[in-house]
Amino acid sequence: MRAAADASPASPAPDCVLVIFGAAGDLAKRLLIPALLNLAQASLLADGFKVLGVDHNDGDDASFREAAGQFIQTVAASKDRQVGRREGDAAAWKALSARFHYQVADFEDDQSFQQLAVGIAALAGTGPLNVLFYLAVAPRFFAGIVERLSKAGLVQDQAGGFRRVVIEKPFGEDLASAKALNRRILKHLDERQIFRIDHFLGKETVRNIMVTRFANGVFEPLWNRLHIDHIQITAAETIGVEQRGAYYDKTGALRDMVPNHLFQLLAMTAMEPPNSFAAAAIAAERSRVVDAVRLQPPGEALANSVRGQYRAGKVADHGVVDYRREPAVAARSRTETYVALKLTIDNWRWAGVPFYLRTGKAMRVRDTEISIRFKQAPGALFQHTAGIGAEANTLVLQIQPREGISLQFEAKRPGPDVVAAPVQMDFHFADYFDAAPSTGYETLIYDCMIGDKTLFKGAEEIEFGWRAVQPFLDAWGEAGEVHGYAAGSVGPSAADELLARDGRSWRSIGP
Ligand code: BG6
Repeated sequence: MRAAADASPASPAPDCVLVIFGAAGDLAKRLLIPALLNLAQASLLADGFKVLGVDHNDGDDASFREAAGQFIQTVAASKDRQVGRREGDAAAWKALSARFHYQVADFEDDQSFQQLAVGIAALAGTGPLNVLFYLAVAPRFFAGIVERLSKAGLVQDQAGGFRRVVIEKPFGEDLASAKALNRRILKHLDERQIFRIDHFLGKETVRNIMVTRFANGVFEPLWNRLHIDHIQITAAETIGVEQRGAYYDKTGALRDMVPNHLFQLLAMTAMEPPNSFAAAAIAAERSRVVDAVRLQPPGEALANSVRGQYRAGKVADHGVVDYRREPAVAARSRTETYVALKLTIDNWRWAGVPFYLRTGKAMRVRDTEISIRFKQAPGALFQHTAGIGAEANTLVLQIQPREGISLQFEAKRPGPDVVAAPVQMDFHFADYFDAAPSTGYETLIYDCMIGDKTLFKGAEEIEFGWRAVQPFLDAWGEAGEVHGYAAGSVGPSAADELLARDGRSWRSIGP
């Protein structure tokens, strides 16, 4: 990780050809291409930077530039406004899109890769040729593309030039398939060439967790089983499965969100301080804590998990259909669109502290947050005081869409009697920092180009994540109930019981 000694802006990445497999797909449109515009606006792309879009759809440079321009406008007009907020965006886009090229390819055909080699060579300037292959494609193509790139001689580092491959999630669909995928790609690539993406690691609020914990003297001494009662990690989404039914119905909320995104939040919250900011030091600590997640026997895994599936309802003002009526979803699907889990981490710091995780689609509000619930202060002094103990101290790391941190604590209500009431101190990023528009992918793409792997996952970290959720996948099979919950609610009531059993309750989500 770049630990800047001063606040001077980062320098442009080295010259590079970015080859995007799946250039006509959703990820490229919504996130990658807008992120490139943001990088161009921040002067972080080299003069020799070029994009080679690759997909099976017919097209040429002109049609690719045209389509990409339309994606940019759509994103700029959307509510989140991840691009298109800055002066000069139109001019920057014109200059950037002139560097966009396109090549039709069949991802499963060797000849296409021979042609790709010719296409890349044609884009090469005179300097060393750095090439970043971004696999923004369906997971079934990952290993085959790497094998064909290797066969076409495209992944061997050249003198002075790098060859790197970015692999999107989902990386495997369980422990066995993740291991098999690692084995296949590692036959052709060195670990240092592989950038396994989890875009949660690119979020500023996620990266800030390390700073909150380790750059402040006040938190870390309390950050352990002696002072923390439990931790809740929530990623509530308002969107349903949209047009992704075919993928999602085979995947479900657990595979889609837990071993990757939620475990990143868990790892950043629970890991030990790394020895340095070096990528390997940080990744090792993230891995180590995921490795310590206790593997639950089947009965326990069933008791400590709740699955839900959304039924028709309303999110904000929009009607949402029953999940089983969404396009490309099986009429009798048992796939979960909501999951809540109780996990424990078997290490010195966290023994006995439950971690409750939940994530779901079509929920009442969008809210991703980590809440750290501290133990109650000893009660003797205030045992007869009204209001004390109703709410324990809670530190909430708000990841999105609210970005900030809040601390809840007790204060004396003004008046002659001592009556306590919970109050809150809030920090909002936007009040202090003028954040540039961002899709979250800017840092990740830039880091691939400069070769910084801090925000990427190693083979081991991926495998530990799958290993930790495998007991739930195994225990579920056809067993246990998938509870219905109304779209626009906070999930199935069975999830409340999961905590109520331990005498606890979920924090209410949303503002
Ligand atoms: C993706 C999942 O990885 O992350 C999606 O496949 C999910 O189902 C998305 O909606 C959430 O990301 P974000 O950044 O919108 O919270």
